[in-house]
Amino acid sequence: MANTQAATAAPTSKKAGTSPASSAPSGELRNVGALDIKDSRTDKSYSIQIVQGGVEGDTATRAMDLRQIKTSPDEFGMMTYDPAFMNTASCKSAITFIDGDKGILRYRGYPIEQLAEKATFLEVAWLLRHGELPTQEEYNGWVKDITFHTYVHENIKTFLQGFRYDAHPMSMLCSAVAALSSFYPEAKNIHDPDQRNISIIRLLAKLPTLAAFCYRHIKGLPFIYPDNDLSYVENFLSMVARMSEPKYEANPVFVNALEILFILHADHEQNCSASAVRAVGSSQVDPFSAIAAGVAALYGPLHGGANEQVLRMINEIGHPKNVPAFIEEVKGGKGSRLMGFGHRVYKSYDPRAKIVKKLADQVFAQIGMDKDLEIALELERIALSDDYFVSRKLYPNVDFYTGLIYRSMAFPMDFFTVLFAVARTSGWLAQWEEMLNDKEQKIARPRQIYVGYGERSFTSKLTNRFPSAKKDALRK
Ligand code: ACO
Repeated sequence: MANTQAATAAPTSKKAGTSPASSAPSGELRNVGALDIKDSRTDKSYSIQIVQGGVEGDTATRAMDLRQIKTSPDEFGMMTYDPAFMNTASCKSAITFIDGDKGILRYRGYPIEQLAEKATFLEVAWLLRHGELPTQEEYNGWVKDITFHTYVHENIKTFLQGFRYDAHPMSMLCSAVAALSSFYPEAKNIHDPDQRNISIIRLLAKLPTLAAFCYRHIKGLPFIYPDNDLSYVENFLSMVARMSEPKYEANPVFVNALEILFILHADHEQNCSASAVRAVGSSQVDPFSAIAAGVAALYGPLHGGANEQVLRMINEIGHPKNVPAFIEEVKGGKGSRLMGFGHRVYKSYDPRAKIVKKLADQVFAQIGMDKDLEIALELERIALSDDYFVSRKLYPNVDFYTGLIYRSMAFPMDFFTVLFAVARTSGWLAQWEEMLNDKEQKIARPRQIYVGYGERSFTSKLTNRFPSAKKDALRK
């Protein structure tokens, strides 16, 4: 007869699933049912609890509940195998909600469309971190603190000057953010809320300064110090573009566009870079080091580096008439992918891409049409009607049009991902702090399924193992 074993967590009951739904996040997972599993190897049955988060929360089972499933007491127990975390929730989070099928993105419950239209970037950064919109007083204090901390130690300038003239700015930014850790050793006191607060303010304040310094270095231009009379975005543009004028006045079209793009890029739940920040941060390292890991992850062409790749691809295509041939190459798997298309989570139009496309129209209406917009529109038109892309649910993602806007603002291609990193720092910090305050989190340490050799004894194939005979004599 089959044995039925209750899950190690709270046992399931007939009443499961009756807890009332609430729109306010409780932070807890509630029991909504049970999964009955029968192990054909042992004929044993198990009841595994099904849990759910908020109103729209996904259902899941606790992977650790599977550990009890084994064929003998001394066996390790069952694991799940999920390369690239295609179907594994690594945390509970109340920050960002995405429904990839319906194309919904919300920060703390607020639709991205409303935030992009009405909020400021620093208001969104507060919202991501604190969960609620700031009052006027809170906002004033937040802006004042961030503005106060925009300067970086003078040694950072020397450090950045050590890079070659053609260094990739993401590589420079990643190193500079990591280097900040050495300037603020007290930041390693991550369990002290005051230390966390000042580190978060410093990172938000200094990222635009570091990013602008990377830009100026590559251009061979002198570094421009922050102008604390300006807004976050205006000050950033001033540090990037100011020459001999005593006060930089940014083009208001660009200021508005960058403010919106920063909001759109601020967070995107458990993407590659946020997961990197959480994983590195889970070792309890200081936040500067954890955020540097996020910058490194974002650098990759399949993540934040895609906006740069979109422009390179458009350059390569050269003319709208060449688009059909390029699409055929992509489909044949010979060339590159259609950069700026496809997303792990969105299986419909990325809601951010819709906003960016409208923004691009506004920017180009004011400063003139970008010649490559035509190629982008043709790529989108063909791809959206081609069965290869339709059947795989490949739609434009946020990176498809951002590059065109950035280029119209005269940013070099390899600087696009840096702009993304400045904005995403707000989301990484919110994710990092949520992870630290989550009592269920521990150091990130996935399991593996070992597929290598069993034990075998060592016999060296080398005849001369060490260059010096003396050393060799030490090792028999
Ligand atoms: N062009 C052509 N084919 C594609 C593309 C693309 N952009 N994206 C996916 N596919 C195809 C794959 O070849 C695969 O086809 P197959 O089933 O015949 O083998 C299928 O669609 C599924 O692709 P996966 O790689 O399994 O999808 P995954 O979810 O792992 O990848 C990713 C998502 C990395 C974003 C992918 O779509 C991609 O490489 N896109 C281009 C790069 C890009 O724009 N990245 C930015 C993402 S947004 C961001 O990070 C801010």
